[in-house]
Amino acid sequence: MKKRIAVLASGRGSNFQAVIDAIAAGTIPAACEALITDNPGAYAIERAGKAGIPVRVIDYRSFSSREAYERSLLAAMQEVDADLYVLAGYMRILGTDLVRSFSGKMVNIHPALLPSFTGLHAQRQAILHGVKVAGCTVHFVDENLDCGPIILQYCVPVLDGDDEDTLADRILEREHECYPEAIRLFCEDRLDVIGRRVRIRS
Ligand code: GAR
Repeated sequence: MKKRIAVLASGRGSNFQAVIDAIAAGTIPAACEALITDNPGAYAIERAGKAGIPVRVIDYRSFSSREAYERSLLAAMQEVDADLYVLAGYMRILGTDLVRSFSGKMVNIHPALLPSFTGLHAQRQAILHGVKVAGCTVHFVDENLDCGPIILQYCVPVLDGDDEDTLADRILEREHECYPEAIRLFCEDRLDVIGRRVRIRS
């Protein structure tokens, strides 16, 4: 049976688009039931509109406290009642209670080969550190930032002439392959989480 997914995105939404396209192509056996965003100006909203996906805007700035914001976000997520929540460039750190509510049902993509370069500006961190290989990681979300069990990692070379932007572009191309593939595996019930390790069933 088709899974129901919801995507959380804060900005451009190119990973969201890759998921929309993979669903439309029949690669991911799922329906995207909602886009939830904290940013009323997110380009992801236009992408959702074109694909006929309902949008929930939960504007962080309109809440008096972080707790109130998180309560509203939790309620919106529970309302959608998705099988999988997909963080696609969602740039707010989620509170422990919220994360625990969706344990094993929330995934994130990060533009680095975790556990290296967590947090913001991962591609810049990679350039500054001088690594020769970079990439992206799709992982389950747990209470710690960019830390949950790893589902897939795709890598790219770092070239001599690279700066943060050229490296980010090369990684992003791979993100658009990696995220739909990881979501497909989840939707086909092929992921077993054993401690920190994710086994992919054939
Ligand atoms: C992507 O590179 C994603 O990996 C990154 O933000 C970008 C969003 O692009 N996420 C993080 O850094 C989360 N820590 P998109 O809006 O075009 O998908």
